[in-house]
Amino acid sequence: MSTFSAPKGTYDLLPPDSAAFLAVREAIAAPLRRAGYGYVETPGFEHVELFARGVGESTDIVTKEMYTLTTKGGTRLALRPEGTASVLRAALQANLHRSGSLPVKLWYSGTYYRYERPQAGRYRHFSQVGAEAIGAEDPVLDAELIILAADAYRSLGLSGVRLLLNSLGDRTCRPAYREALQNFLRGLDLDEETRARIEINPLRVLDDKRPDVRRQLADAPLLRDHLCESCKEYHEGVRALLTAAGVPFTDDPALVRGLDYYTRTTFEFVHDGLGSQSAVGGGGRYDGLSELIGGPALPSVGWALGVDRTVLALRAEGVAPAVPAATDVFAVPMGDEARRVLFATVTELRRAGVAADFAYGGKGVKASMKAANRSGARYAVVLGERDIAEGVAQVKDLESGDQVAVPLDGLVADLAARLGPGAAGRE
Ligand code: HAM
Repeated sequence: MSTFSAPKGTYDLLPPDSAAFLAVREAIAAPLRRAGYGYVETPGFEHVELFARGVGESTDIVTKEMYTLTTKGGTRLALRPEGTASVLRAALQANLHRSGSLPVKLWYSGTYYRYERPQAGRYRHFSQVGAEAIGAEDPVLDAELIILAADAYRSLGLSGVRLLLNSLGDRTCRPAYREALQNFLRGLDLDEETRARIEINPLRVLDDKRPDVRRQLADAPLLRDHLCESCKEYHEGVRALLTAAGVPFTDDPALVRGLDYYTRTTFEFVHDGLGSQSAVGGGGRYDGLSELIGGPALPSVGWALGVDRTVLALRAEGVAPAVPAATDVFAVPMGDEARRVLFATVTELRRAGVAADFAYGGKGVKASMKAANRSGARYAVVLGERDIAEGVAQVKDLESGDQVAVPLDGLVADLAARLGPGAAGRE
């Protein structure tokens, strides 16, 4: 035990649990790579103003949850609370939108920071894998991203993820709806903070989870009934493409999301095994964000899936993601000469793509075999003085307990063959 522990709202990722996190990241990334998304990485902090303008001055994320700091030079920075504004900033800065055909398709994986009230599934430091398709307005693109996320969840073996879908309209139809909603909300019995929200960001009031507020919202006007023709047509296009791809969804006219940049398509993936923090991922279209942060008009769409919550969803369903064995072969040397020989074997095995580990520290056979069993390895290779004299090593199958003597000069090939193609090249 050290004097220190991880700060509130954070946790350490440690083996063996960390393997599931890597498996989730990889399962989300693989379909994106296959669909032509290129990897992007941006700094862990940005100018505060990027998020204030991008995510929205009145959002909880900007008003309450950002970790901000002022550098010695007086620059105001914020740890990134989300990835979309940063990725778009990076694409604009590098002129990616001018250097090739549109859309620019990017994916990312990283940690994000929000000063939220910690609870199960809600942390102050968490991981997302995200994707952004920048500079094109086409329902196929919205559908593509949603399908890729659904495929990622499915490839992990999750069956309880549900997709909620909505359209938030655009700058043509949203203002009239906003006014209609404000007029309705002003007539309700609400606390002061919520009344203030009506004037700044009335759509967020629809997201209020308190039962007495929910009850009053039952008859609230819905954007669905105020969409302009082009938004309606666009949304129908997305819905039809999802249906054709066999991706089920539920229309959720009250889905508003916690970030201000959304226009038209918005969606959330939820899992019922997670308690109140049920959103495992979310995203949508953000056609006006580029202009908000000083760029040209670049209609775009994207999502971010929460890695931590996806791991919790796997646990809730009792699904273990396919994780490659940490160790295939465990070497147990007895004596100094055996240590030299087996260490060379381990090095060769690793270079051949076989996961191999070693009994360090000159332990006795009993302790070494215990370590071998604990490592999860399939085979232990035991080498003593007599074996060396005879030019063999003992290969013990840790599942069946069978042991055979294998010539030292063919040991690496023998082990690779026993393990089959699944072991080699697993990096
Ligand atoms: P978001 O809905 O704020 O969207 O976050 C996406 C996902 O990150 C959530 O569904 C959740 O799984 C996870 N997440 C968020 N906050 C926490 C937290 N405090 N603890 C654990 N997990 C969390 C965005 O961030 C947008 N940038 C998504 C996007 C990309 N929209 C367009 N492009």
